[in-house]
Amino acid sequence: MRFEPFLLDQWIERKFSPEWKIEHDFSASSGPSWTLGELLALGGEESIEQLLRTPIVYPSAAGCAELRSAVAELEGASPDDVQIVTGAQEGLLAIFFAAAEPGANVVLPHPGFAPFTAVPRSFGLEVRQYHLRPENQFAVDVEEVMKLADARTALVLVNSPHNPSGAVLAETDRRALHDFCAGRRIQFVCDQVFHPIFHGPGTSTAATLPNATIVGDFSKALCLTGLRVGWIIDRDHDRLETYRDARTYFTVSNSPITEWLAVLAVRHRDEVYARARDFSAANLQRIESSWSSTSEIAWVKPQGGFTVFPWLRGERDTRPLCERLGARGILAVPGDCFDMPSHMRIGFGTEPQRFGMGFDRLCEELEAYFAERHRQSHHLNQLEPIASDAERAIHVR
Ligand SMILES: Cc1ncc(COP(=O)(O)O)c(C=O)c1O
Repeated sequence: MRFEPFLLDQWIERKFSPEWKIEHDFSASSGPSWTLGELLALGGEESIEQLLRTPIVYPSAAGCAELRSAVAELEGASPDDVQIVTGAQEGLLAIFFAAAEPGANVVLPHPGFAPFTAVPRSFGLEVRQYHLRPENQFAVDVEEVMKLADARTALVLVNSPHNPSGAVLAETDRRALHDFCAGRRIQFVCDQVFHPIFHGPGTSTAATLPNATIVGDFSKALCLTGLRVGWIIDRDHDRLETYRDARTYFTVSNSPITEWLAVLAVRHRDEVYARARDFSAANLQRIESSWSSTSEIAWVKPQGGFTVFPWLRGERDTRPLCERLGARGILAVPGDCFDMPSHMRIGFGTEPQRFGMGFDRLCEELEAYFAERHRQSHHLNQLEPIASDAERAIHVR
């Protein structure tokens, strides 16, 4: 069994190597980060004392009772329906693991977060993808999803708000897909790690749907990537038990320290969400004011989350450009990490002043690149009548 290369994480990992000195990092998909001190300050002075008294032991594999209750309250669910996991990533691993019956298939979004396809493929599941098209605002075509499903479909997965496009699945479409799946005994999985960060009309949590499996976490909307805490919500307790069993083999449990911090974050979620919303709204406005007047960059305004997925007109593959940006201290994600090479992913969840400085630099670099490209093609056009293929190849390089 092999995983296909995780291009996104391989790319992001390069910022930790001495090869690049990244000054402006647009590679993250999460909201503004918190220090341990800032998080503890939300809980007041006694929180430090409480944390120091936490015994460093194995917590329950289901997640400690306080954390399951906190997540249940956040999602309007029952604590009995909550399974804590080590990041949403472990949640997805457990879900695909449980779905991996011989001959089964899974229906997933394209583009999408790479583990959506890499993990089921590695388990031998057939992957079927529905397409979120930029010309259709990256919206889910409900009919297309329904046509892909058949008697061997183990699950249909939706991701809203969506990584990388920021598209939001309308509640009516989500309900239609839920009911379609429920009627055919197909599991309906909603990855909503960016919920409830919206830049337009929002939706309710998918946990209101009686037959849905919800994947959520503390990394994205709750901005605490380094806690490595996530959750699955499922009213089907046979499935929940399978996930719990799988988890005891994968990671056993979280740490009582991170679980304690996660509870604190849920108690203070209003502050955490408010900072994430204020920062991302300001940054999105900054993007809008620059890109609305640029003909080379096409984009769809994200309706949620912290990433935008523009494409560059006339560019087939942004990886060389992203390499060049990386060498100049700017980290943007090439679209091939999402199997759409003419795109780039730009994260905009960071502190606005810092974001603004970096974004100005990014725009300058892009303008210089477009000007060079323009000069090159102009030069080529002039050469055209006399140039041989070999001469053209030299100029194209
Ligand atoms: C859509 C989506 N789901 C799940 C994850 C996994 O997040 P984590 O394991 O940090 O909770 C990510 C991370 O980028 C994501 O974008």
